[in-house]
Formats: sequence, structure tokens, C-alpha cells
Amino acid sequence: MKNKPSIFNDPSNNSSLPKHVAIIMDGNGRWAIERGLPRFAGHRAGVQSVREVVEACIELGIPILTLYAFSQENWKRPKEEISVLMELLDFFLGQEIKNLMKQGVRFCTLGRIEALPEGVQKKLAQSVEQTSKNEKLIFNLALNYGSRTEILDAVNQILHDVKENPSKFNGAFELDEAYFSKHLYTRDLPDPDLLIRTSGEIRLSNFLLWQLSYAEIYITKKYWPDFHKDDFVEAIRDYQKRERRFGDVGASA
Ligand code: FPP
Repeated sequence: MKNKPSIFNDPSNNSSLPKHVAIIMDGNGRWAIERGLPRFAGHRAGVQSVREVVEACIELGIPILTLYAFSQENWKRPKEEISVLMELLDFFLGQEIKNLMKQGVRFCTLGRIEALPEGVQKKLAQSVEQTSKNEKLIFNLALNYGSRTEILDAVNQILHDVKENPSKFNGAFELDEAYFSKHLYTRDLPDPDLLIRTSGEIRLSNFLLWQLSYAEIYITKKYWPDFHKDDFVEAIRDYQKRERRFGDVGASA
């Protein structure tokens, strides 16, 4: 990157770096329409922004990135748009896997993958398997993801475990946050410290509702295809200025 911002060169800043950044990539359609292009052109252009934020996380030393690529609600979109999104995903996995290996990226998915086209499922499984030993960055892609479904899946899994193994719970079972969290798709990962949403919309859209409880939120008006590495660094800088209190009084009190 030309003229790297100082954050890249100042290791003393590392203590306040988020460990986990989640992003709602929004505005692809509007980006395209404003250019007189079909909506899918915005998704296509958005792939470059995905590459850039992956690179930025590696360069900054942020260990976990979670991107919201396709929600359960996105099935309501026109068939052609869904097809293009699936093709893009297929293409991305085919093209990027070498790069992800070179960069030391561990690729993971969140969501009900079994509903995606078979070819895509296969490529996803291969990518997850092939990159499973990489340690530089965990890159989660949320696909056919819905947070309410994730929470219900966790509850149902726990109910099933209690029914199958009553002796293990000894008749005195009470859920706590740590136990419950381990049944979410994110399992052992720490919750996101920072949520970024592009295109100016101020809502969670059924994304990581449990995990984002204490996240700092950063909204930018930029559409996703216009969100580049420097914009990501800007969001991290903004995060570093925040005082996280987790319900306590601040340090200045
Ligand atoms: C939201 O914009 C974006 C999506 C639903 C898809 C995100 C997909 C990509 C960035 C490309 C594929 C990603 C990978 C990793 C291959 P929108 O269409 O809702 O925009 P709008 O609100 O302006 O209509």
C-alpha cells in the first residue's frame, strides 16, 4: 500500500486493535444502479473490497474477520441475482484459494451451508479443509446465515444433548453464557469487538445478534465496492478512540 497510514507502523497501537471485526457489506446494488449498471455488477466490484479487507487485517495483525455475504433473507432476491452471487462465490473460492494459502488465511463458513448449490458446497468444504492449518487470519464468510436461526439451532442442539444424555446433566442443568456461546456457529471465537456497516444503513439485519452485544459500531456512507483498505484503517482508527465500558463507569470517572 502506498503511504501506509501510521497505524501500520506503530506497534504500540496493537494493544487497542480489535481481535475480531465483523462487516455487513452493503450498497452493492446502489453502487451499480448509480452507474447505470445491473445490480450484479456491484457484487462483482465488491469482491475486490473483500480482498482488500482480508489483506488489511493481515497487515494490521487483526486475527479474525467475519463478513456477511448472504443472509437467509437474501433468497427473496431475483433468481438471476442469486445465481450471480453463487457464481461469484464459486469463482472467488477457485481463484483465491492459492492466495489464501500464501497469506496464511484460515477460511471458515457460518450459516446453513447445506442449502447452497452442491458445487459451491463442495468448493467451500475444500477451502475450509485446505486452509484449516493456517494461523495468520481466521476469515469467516457468513452464507445463508440468519442469527435467529443460529440461536434456535443452538437451543435445539442443547435440548437434544440434554434428552440424549440426561445423566451428564444430573437433573440440575442451568445454561450460562459461556456454555450457550459454545453452541453458536462461532463456537470458540471471541465476540466481534467492532461491527462495520457500509452504505449508511443503521441496522443489524439479523447478523450475529448474540455476539455483537458489546461491539462498537462503525457506519460509513460509502457503498461496499467503494470501501477500500484505507477506509478499513479509518474504521480501526475510530475504534481505537472509543472507550469501551462494558456497562462499567469509564476510566475518567
Ligand atoms: C449487499 O448489497 C451485499 C450482498 C447481499 C452480497 C455481498 C456479496 C459480495 C460483496 C460479493 C461476493 C462475496 C464474496 C466473498 C465472493 P445490496 O445488494 O443489498 O446493496 P443495496 O442495498 O444497495 O441494494
